[in-house]
Amino acid sequence: MLETINQTADYIRSRVSDMPKTAIILGTGLGALVDHIEDKQYIPYSEIPNFPVSTVEGHSGNLIFGRLGNKRVMAMQGRFHFYEGYDMKTVTFPVRVMKALGIKTLFVSNAAGGMNPEFMIGDIMIITDHINLFPEHPLRGKNYNELGARFPDMSEAYSRRLINHAFDIAKEKGIRVMQGVYVGTQGPTFETPAEYKYFHIIGGDAVGMSTVPEVIVARHAGIEVFGVSVITDLGVEGIVEKVSHEEVQKAAQSAQPKMMEIMTELVNRFEE
Ligand code: HPA
Repeated sequence: MLETINQTADYIRSRVSDMPKTAIILGTGLGALVDHIEDKQYIPYSEIPNFPVSTVEGHSGNLIFGRLGNKRVMAMQGRFHFYEGYDMKTVTFPVRVMKALGIKTLFVSNAAGGMNPEFMIGDIMIITDHINLFPEHPLRGKNYNELGARFPDMSEAYSRRLINHAFDIAKEKGIRVMQGVYVGTQGPTFETPAEYKYFHIIGGDAVGMSTVPEVIVARHAGIEVFGVSVITDLGVEGIVEKVSHEEVQKAAQSAQPKMMEIMTELVNRFEE
């Protein structure tokens, strides 16, 4: 595995002269952040040795290098989901490559269903913590001590200092932001009303089919993480409505400018 990671990192290094320390993973319907990246260089996943290729509509596959505000960034346009059939090692492979490239901070975004009754469709939820309900753990199997500890600490999976910065920014800009716990599930079904209720009872505020595996692998590797969910549908008792991928994409797209404003300013402002 180490050899594969290094081979991929070497290839990327051969194509990118000024390697960023900050990476961003863009979720469903949230790809437009890329428009704010300047001096862009695209590397299609298909050109990168050992890189998987994403299969879902609305998830294009490119690594993008460029500048967001005053920072060099690497953005993943399109991520790999467990429900697509990839195993956890594949889902999290790009994060391992990030570590090998010297990435120190990871920003993740996703579309999620809201279970917290205070949430509205189109809200931004800053992720303060998560609950991992994926059926396979991304760190299951041999531990590579070079990559991180066998039993990694998860007491602050989402960086407190970045969360605080994000709240300051939202306040300054007058953007309504919520906060909460993200529940990661395998999908691909959306939840039944009983499942939404159950996820809320166990402490979840939003639920989605991504993010948790990447965050676990990033924290294992000592990468600092900030995450944000865009609430695209509601799983609140009594008001659970039919939901489709198209609606999720549409809601994510309309909330995108708010999310982008916070992310862009946060990336610009935080100390690398
Ligand atoms: N459940 C799971 N994943 C999701 C949802 C949801 O309600 N909305 C967007 N992604």
